[in-house]
Formats: sequence, structure tokens, C-alpha cells
Amino acid sequence: MTDDDLDSNRRHFLTVATVVTGAVGAGMAAIPFLSSLKPSARAQALGAPVEVPLASMQPGEMVRVLWRGKLVFVLRRTEAMLDQLSGYEDQLRDPNSEVVDQQPDYAANATRSVKREYLVVEGSCTHLGCAPIQDFDVRPAEGWGGGFFCPCHGSKFDLAGRVFTGVPAPTNLRVPPHRFVRDDLILIGQDQGVA
Ligand code: FES
Repeated sequence: MTDDDLDSNRRHFLTVATVVTGAVGAGMAAIPFLSSLKPSARAQALGAPVEVPLASMQPGEMVRVLWRGKLVFVLRRTEAMLDQLSGYEDQLRDPNSEVVDQQPDYAANATRSVKREYLVVEGSCTHLGCAPIQDFDVRPAEGWGGGFFCPCHGSKFDLAGRVFTGVPAPTNLRVPPHRFVRDDLILIGQDQGVA
């Protein structure tokens, strides 16, 4: 879907909403118009794409959003965080994102991202689905360069959501479909026309 399509959809929604608001005062006359809202409500329930504005997000900051009832993390990585992403590939189960179901093709790269600065992953441990906790402190003595820790059974993921070996989680955190509508706006749940 293009930006023009999105704008067109928004305009359509506003038009329908305006019509319904105007029709409420007419009593029963409102009913046919309310039915025209159903596809939109159904789309919401199924999980319409979610916009995440980035303009005020600082480097090192992470926001959590819900998409299709799933928690999604959006982390703006610092250069220091990005520098941490290499040199321990032998400790990762899938360092090159070869398990194809865990990310779209456009995120099967060294940073698992569209733009290297922004990590977008589902906040669901690939063992049994607990929400991993962010642990971005670097602790060289522990061999920890920052990442995510699952409190349920101890799975660990790096700052690209890649799972370490020796933990119960079998795969990397999943990267949902997403795209940059603008430099300061991510749309989660939709890439180039595929929701
Ligand atoms: S659910 Fe995360 S380690 Fe078990």
C-alpha cells in the first residue's frame, strides 16, 4: 500500500465517521451507515498496522507497542550498541538469520533491521512466549554486551534479538513485517503491501 493509499483510507474513514455522526440525530436512519463501519472495526480486531513515531525517540531508548495483541519492541540503537553486534557469532544459534520464519528477507542482515539504528522485534521469547526484559548494560566481565533476558527460563538475546546457545529458546526473536513510512515513522504490520 502506498502513502497515497493510506491517505485515501484515512480520508475514507473520516468521511464515513462524519456521515455517521451526522446521521445519529436522525435515529433509525443511522443504522445503514453504522454497518459501513464494520470492515474497519473488523480490520482493527484482526490487527491493523500500527504507527510508531520516532521523532522524539532518543538513541538507546526503546518503546513497546501492541500489534495484533502481540508486544513489539522498537529500539533505537546507539552506535555503541551497534558496535557490540559482532565478535561472538560462535555463541549464537543463528547469527546470520538463516531461520527464514523469524524475519522478513529485508531484515536478514547483520543488524536484523531495515535501518541499522532501529531494531523492531516481537517481545515474545521463542521458548514459551514470555516477555523478555531489556538489559542494555554492558558487562564485559560476564561477556554481556547488552540485549534481552527472558526471566522465565533464562534465555538470552543480543541487541539484534539473536538468541545465544545454551538456553531454551530455539530461535531468534521474530522481526514483524514493518516499513518506514518516513524517516521518523515506522508502520508495523505492513511492509511493501503485505500485511
Ligand atoms: S519462555 Fe523464555 S526462556 Fe522459557
